[in-house]
Amino acid sequence: SCFFLLLYLLGCDCAVCCRRENEPPLIKGWIPFLGKALEFRKDSLKFLLEQKRKHGDIFTVRMAGKYMTFVLDPLLYPHIIKHSQQLDFREFLQNTTPRTFGYPPVHSKMFSGLKEQIAYSFTLLQGNNLTLLTERMLDNLMLVFRQDHLGHSGWRSGSIYQFCLSMMFEATLLTMYGHPAAATRHGGVSALRDDFLKFDSKFHLLVQQVPIWLFWGMKAVRKNLINYFMPDHISRWTDMSEFIRMRMEMFEDHENLRDVDKAAHHFAMLWAALTNSVPATFWAMYYLLSHPEALQVVRQEIQEVFQISDVECDCFLINNGLTTSSESAIKESFRLSSVTMSLRVVQEDFNLRLGESRSIAVREGDIIIMYPQIMYFDPEIYEEPKKFRFDRYVHNGAEKTDFYKDNQKLKHYLMPFGLGSSLCPGRFFAMSQIKQFLCLMLLYFDLQLEDGQSHFEPRKAGLGFKLHSADIRFRYRLCTSRQNRH
Ligand code: HEM
Repeated sequence: SCFFLLLYLLGCDCAVCCRRENEPPLIKGWIPFLGKALEFRKDSLKFLLEQKRKHGDIFTVRMAGKYMTFVLDPLLYPHIIKHSQQLDFREFLQNTTPRTFGYPPVHSKMFSGLKEQIAYSFTLLQGNNLTLLTERMLDNLMLVFRQDHLGHSGWRSGSIYQFCLSMMFEATLLTMYGHPAAATRHGGVSALRDDFLKFDSKFHLLVQQVPIWLFWGMKAVRKNLINYFMPDHISRWTDMSEFIRMRMEMFEDHENLRDVDKAAHHFAMLWAALTNSVPATFWAMYYLLSHPEALQVVRQEIQEVFQISDVECDCFLINNGLTTSSESAIKESFRLSSVTMSLRVVQEDFNLRLGESRSIAVREGDIIIMYPQIMYFDPEIYEEPKKFRFDRYVHNGAEKTDFYKDNQKLKHYLMPFGLGSSLCPGRFFAMSQIKQFLCLMLLYFDLQLEDGQSHFEPRKAGLGFKLHSADIRFRYRLCTSRQNRH
């Protein structure tokens, strides 16, 4: 047995020794088990570009005991999405998220039909319900904005991130879950927010199944977060969204779900709604503030939309009027700051066809990864890719959708919300939330970055949208045209 252990530690397991025909090149590190994980974590983009140079667009990396096959050519993504039966997205989530959030596995026989009900609930983030949801969101953003940030004249200064966080966190909580019957705002939001941030900062490790007890105090933090959403507590809240109301009812159908499990599901949904939206809003703000010419054009677009209608701030206009410069600027900030990767778990050994003349052999249990950041920084697709060009996604006053690689039009050129079976169900809501936030900021405030700060770039590794470790500061003051009105 010592011999086998030694072989294992040296990385000499079957998949390493016996590479099969047509399998992609395998890259394994010198450090047993961890493989290349440490290098990847330090700077994923740099690491992958280096491997791409040596091995081409497709290669397998052994990391933390897993075989991860990276497919870096975006022209190949449609072929991967097509194989949704053999390349499964949900399995990955089902195996990781329940333990991370503390609820029992959804696909267990004890909860027959729950998986399908959850998938159905996502339709309530779209269509007519989306309109209601976005209207409420704007009302709630206005509520927090008016009570916490208006009513001062003169310049004030603050952290961009803290500003985005405090507005988006509370407005999203109110919009999705409603508010206590006797108050318009929740008590204890700042404690909830602090716990949320603590949990979020360790999420990438918890989702890799690092035991929660290894992080001091984290179990208590998660317990607080779950307790906030106990059914007997939230059932007394009013103005709850249809989406959450329906999920509450559907959890009631399952007598094997304990109250604490239902609460853990609610907490997980709050996390899904905020973990990317807050940093994405932050980066959109930061890029606009650090590019005054873009800020001016976007501000003008917003002002024009609202002047025509003579309405203060209206949801329909935000969703339907701000489709050119503002939307392009937000997308451009997504391109520069999103490190979303899309994973699929291989369900059986098979030959994955990647077009007319190309295929690779993959094995059951391996993970296929589409890593779009490589394309975001590919100068063939995006000229001067490191530059923030707010109008990159506009052409002749309309949305630009044609981006090319090897003279072929790309079907997927921007995918911060995932793609295929892993497309985010909250993407329309998220886009609208970010536009609403920017509208309020630009309609009401004169804005500047604080002097003396260097140029910041998003971090190069991680999941979703990552923040910069520095606390970037800005100055804001009620626009002179509005000072008499508030
Ligand atoms: C800028 C904001 C957002 C971004 C970039 C984003 C991105 C994503 C991505 C990439 C996934 C797929 C996960 C994966 O591949 O592992 C996902 C899933 C999900 N997102 Fe979002 N999201 C955002 C906002 C939201 C909002 C506001 C909501 C809800 C109100 C939401 C709800 C969800 C849910 C429930 C899933 C899991 C879907 C499933 O199980 O199939 N997201 N999101």
